[in-house]
Amino acid sequence: MTRFFRDLDFLTSGLATAITGVIADLWDLNDFWYHTLSGYVMGAFGIAHVWLNRDRLVGYGRFRWRSIRGSRTAAAVSRPVGASPVGHDGPEPARPLAWLGRAMVSRRGLLGLAIGAAGGTLLGRGLRPAPPIEAGSDVGVIYHQWSKPGILDAFGSITNWGQPVELYKAYPNAPRVTLPNVALDGELDDGLATARAIATRRSIRAYAPTPMTLDELSRLLFLTSGITAGLHGNARRTAPSSGALYPIEIYAVVHRVDGVQPGVYHYAYREHALEQVRAGDFRADVVEQGIAQEFLGECGVVLFFTMILQRMRPKYQDRSYRYGLLEAGHVGENAYLAATSMGLGACGIGAFMDDAINEMLGVDGVEEATVYMLAAGKVSTAA
Ligand SMILES: Cc1cc2nc3c(=O)[nH]c(=O)nc-3n(C[C@H](O)[C@H](O)[C@H](O)COP(=O)(O)O)c2cc1C
Repeated sequence: MTRFFRDLDFLTSGLATAITGVIADLWDLNDFWYHTLSGYVMGAFGIAHVWLNRDRLVGYGRFRWRSIRGSRTAAAVSRPVGASPVGHDGPEPARPLAWLGRAMVSRRGLLGLAIGAAGGTLLGRGLRPAPPIEAGSDVGVIYHQWSKPGILDAFGSITNWGQPVELYKAYPNAPRVTLPNVALDGELDDGLATARAIATRRSIRAYAPTPMTLDELSRLLFLTSGITAGLHGNARRTAPSSGALYPIEIYAVVHRVDGVQPGVYHYAYREHALEQVRAGDFRADVVEQGIAQEFLGECGVVLFFTMILQRMRPKYQDRSYRYGLLEAGHVGENAYLAATSMGLGACGIGAFMDDAINEMLGVDGVEEATVYMLAAGKVSTAA
């Protein structure tokens, strides 16, 4: 009986770990990297422990098996009718809860913990509701899981993520269009109040053939992501940026803007100017590469938001891509609200042919890639 209680001790400690394992797994309590890391370390200890004590464990298993079989045989052979089933250990002593502590620090206790943890995790997986798609068939899910702080993140931190690249991209030899200054004070209040712009913003797909003015384009770019504080180092912009690393570049494909030749332009943040990358009428290209969305050729300008991941990688490693997309969203919403406040239309675009768009802008699509687009222009009043 004593032996039975001893076994029960180990079973209980293992079970306790299993239950906590289920709870941790079901509610994702292992999201903190140090929890995950401790789990893996404990798992490794457990495996090492089992391996180092394999002879004893096998011996103990054999012994238990023999004693179970032996006591059964002995009981069948020698127990007199009506005799008490007391084993050779004698009557069961009183056992206070101190057994739990002893059980957890002993070898068998540790083994129980390891088995319990493994069992709990497996059980936890089994109790989880089935995912809507096969795990691993959505690259977004894979990326999201892999970019969580955790053991992979710990491994990732020993990878060489390289050096940050230049914060400001420049086309020094490109013809330049200087944009009118946008004052940071009273002049900004001319437009629609912020709350009203937020409340009335809509995605507009019907554009008038009237060109936008250079002032409107200047203001649109400035409010989208222009520099608002400091000109040196990581000067702050209208849109927030993780670590003020600003991975988003803006290109403008101008269709109809007074005083600006149609073409592909890069927005130079520090100079608040447009650098001409290519001259020409790109309406047909943008429509075709924007999956035949005709309004992409009817608006005044299409903004392209590209991401330079290397600006963030040395600091944010695997999480950089998450932050880059979030930042494109901030910049995009600024553009929407800026357009709305000026009475212009805007429409965010996620459906486009990546490679063709990147080629049109002259970016490689790997180190710098388009992640979001936005059409803007004079709104059509025709019903
Ligand atoms: C990431 C993103 C991608 C989008 N892509 C497109 C698109 O390719 N074509 C389009 O016509 N609208 C696109 N939209 C606009 C949505 O269709 C629009 O926001 C939605 O219908 C809600 O309407 P509202 O913006 O007028 O409130 C996109 C919006 C977002 C945020």
